[in-house]
Amino acid sequence: MNTGTILRAGVVGHPVKHSRSPIIHGYWLEQFGINGRYDRYDVKPEDFSHFVKTLSEQGLQGVNVTIPHKEAAFLALDEATDRARRLKAANTLWFENGKLWGDNTDSIGFLANLDQGHPGWDINAKSALILGAGGAARAIIAGLQERNIEKITIVNRTRERAEELALMSGGQVAVAEWSKLSFQLESADLVVNTTSLGMSGQPDLDLSLDPLGKNALVTDIVYVPLETNLLKQARLRGNPVVDGLGMLLHQAVPGFEHWFGKRPVVTDALRHLVEDHITGIRA
Ligand code: ATR
Repeated sequence: MNTGTILRAGVVGHPVKHSRSPIIHGYWLEQFGINGRYDRYDVKPEDFSHFVKTLSEQGLQGVNVTIPHKEAAFLALDEATDRARRLKAANTLWFENGKLWGDNTDSIGFLANLDQGHPGWDINAKSALILGAGGAARAIIAGLQERNIEKITIVNRTRERAEELALMSGGQVAVAEWSKLSFQLESADLVVNTTSLGMSGQPDLDLSLDPLGKNALVTDIVYVPLETNLLKQARLRGNPVVDGLGMLLHQAVPGFEHWFGKRPVVTDALRHLVEDHITGIRA
């Protein structure tokens, strides 16, 4: 057991009390026997800049950043990875040679989750249909572009947001009408729900998957509940499905490595632990 200084990191957001990140990092700290802590920091937007400027004074190795601070975090960096620059948003901050660095690991998490949940998914995936046009959709589209998915189509309730995102994403990103969603399913090899529809306490995504091919992969970024109605419908008709929890677990890996010096692995045991928290088996 390391008895030296305690290494500290955490997650900053507003609100942040429901963040599951402390469970994930706490589990890895224990696994590695690292003398470290990972805490939640509820910081209002007007206080965020001060919080970031004083990270090292607070004894923090770095932080994860969540809603609504990811764009402000990007602006506060000394150095950013290409991925963070492309997205103009950062969710993982750390120090390197005295400089504050930032990355956006949401796309890494999204891709790693599909790689683990449905290996080889990108070999034959030519066309992806993205529901939603918020920050999560932005990161996911960047990830799909890294894997050279030929055709990406965004459908969003507010069409202008989809158009802005398509413009920002560059490349071959198309926009289709929310009301024509059903038609778009016919040619999709991958369907990703990035909207909040289907999350507990939110309305359901009212969509019949009937036009979708049986080999198309369906995934959701919502992970409460673990199996959304979208995923259930897909599973029952025989489509491959990957739930959203793995994205949360995998996006945490790079931060842990930066702050605590060990590269953790996303295992079934970790997944089950977080599942137990979500389903209320553990408090
Ligand atoms: P995030 O950064 O997590 O992606 P966000 O920017 O609030 O969050 O995006 C939420 C997404 O869910 C948006 O695409 C939003 O659609 P609008 O751009 O039209 O707001 C979508 N969304 C939320 N509630 C919805 C609803 N009732 N019907 C359809 N789409 C909805």
